[in-house]
Amino acid sequence: MDKMQDAIDLLKAYNQEHIIKWLDKLEEKERKELINQINSIDFHQLSELYQSTKKEIEIKENKIEEIKYLDKAKLTKEQKEKFDTLGEEAIKNGQYAVVTMAGGQGTRLEHPGPKGTFKLDVYGKGKYLFEILAENLKEANKKYNANIPWYIMTSKENNEETCKFLEKNNYFGYDKESLIIFTQGELPLIDEEGKLLIGKNKKIKQASDGNGGVFASLRTSGALADMKERGIKWVFIGGVDNVLLKMADTTLLGMAIDKNVEIASKSVVKASPSEKVGVFCKMNGHPKVIEYTELPEKMAEELDENGELKYGESHIMCNLFTIDAIEKISKETLIYHSAHKKNSYLDENGKEIIPKEPNSYKFEAFIFDAFEFFDDIAILRGKREDDFAPVKNKEGVDSPKTAKELYEKYWERNK
Ligand code: UTP
Repeated sequence: MDKMQDAIDLLKAYNQEHIIKWLDKLEEKERKELINQINSIDFHQLSELYQSTKKEIEIKENKIEEIKYLDKAKLTKEQKEKFDTLGEEAIKNGQYAVVTMAGGQGTRLEHPGPKGTFKLDVYGKGKYLFEILAENLKEANKKYNANIPWYIMTSKENNEETCKFLEKNNYFGYDKESLIIFTQGELPLIDEEGKLLIGKNKKIKQASDGNGGVFASLRTSGALADMKERGIKWVFIGGVDNVLLKMADTTLLGMAIDKNVEIASKSVVKASPSEKVGVFCKMNGHPKVIEYTELPEKMAEELDENGELKYGESHIMCNLFTIDAIEKISKETLIYHSAHKKNSYLDENGKEIIPKEPNSYKFEAFIFDAFEFFDDIAILRGKREDDFAPVKNKEGVDSPKTAKELYEKYWERNK
C-alpha cells in the first residue's frame, strides 16, 4: 500500500495524474508492475529533460578549428604497411574486441523488429543486417587467425527478440563463447506536453538512452570486466545499420596504436558543404563532432590549402577506443539530446494510437559527445563507396535501396 501511495504522490508532484487512472484500472499483477516502474523513474531528471526540449540550442562562444586526419587512400606504402602490421599484431594477440550497438528503435526504417533482423534484399536471397556483420567479423577471424569477441548491445525493448533471432539463426555461425549480448539503459518517453505514455503492455513507455549509453552499460552489465578478463586493449564500436562497416580495419587500429591515442575514428568526406551530417572539428582544443545545424555556413564551405573542405570529415559511427578510455567515459555523464519521434501509445480509453507524425520525445546520449573528454583523436578518412552504406530511412537517401546498390557494387569490385 505504501508503495502505491509513493507512486501516486510522485505522479501528482510531477503532473502525471493521467497515470493514476491506469493504476485504478489494472489487475493486481499489472498494477504492482506499474507501481514498481513508477517508483524507479527519476522524475526530477525527466522534468529537466522535458524543459530542455523547449530551449533554443545555445551556441556558445567556441573556438572551432579544423581537425587533422590521414587519408587512407593517400598513405604511403610504408605507412600503410606499418599500420596494418601493428593492427594485425594486436588482433592476433587477442587484444581487439568489437561492439555492435543494436539498441536503437529504428523508427525511420519502420521495420517491425530490431533493426539487425532486417533483411536487405541483396543477391536474390537477401541477408540480415546481423548476418552481414557476422560475415565481416568471421572473415577477419579467418584472415588473422583470431577469435574476436563480439559484444552486441540490445535495448530492454528489443533484447528478447534479438536473442531469439540470433539463436534461431545459430548466431550466423559465430562462435557462441565469443558472442556476448548486453542490454543498455533506458529512459521514459514523453509526449509534447511532457506526459508519460502508456504502452500496449500497460507499462510506461521507455526507450533506450541513446548510443552514448554504450559506455555506462558496458560497465554496469559486466561486459567491460569480461573484456578485461580476456585481455582486450582496443574496442571498436560500430552501429548495426552500415552494411559496409569494416569490423576489423587493421589500418585504423594500427594508426591508433602508432599515434598512441586513446580514441580513433573513421570518417568519410562530406558529399557537399550542405550535406546534413555531423563533422569532426576541434572545439576549445578538444575533438568534437559538430552538428550541421551548429556549423556556420561560411565555415561549412571553407577550403584548406589543398582545396578540400576544412570541416569535411563526417562522423560515420565507426569508432575505436582503448579499454581505459571506455572505463573513463563510463564514469562521466554525457548530455542528453532530445529526438522528436513517432511512438504509439494507449489513450485514456485504452485504445492504441499509432501516430502518423512525430508525437513524442526520446532522450538520447550520443557516442561522439565522449570525444571531448580527450585531448586528441586519430582520424582515418575512408571512402564512402567502401565504408559507408547506412540503412536509416524506409525510402530515399540512406535506405535499403541505396544500401543494396552500394553493397552489391562494393562486392562486385572486391570479389
Ligand atoms: P540511430 O541514431 O540512427 O537510431 O542509431 P536508430 O534507432 O537506428 O533509428 P531511428 O533514429 O529510430 O530511425 C545509430 C546506431 O546506434 C544504435 C542503433 O541501433 C544504430 O546502430 N543505437 C541508437 C543504440 O544502440 N541505442 C540507442 O539508444 C540508439
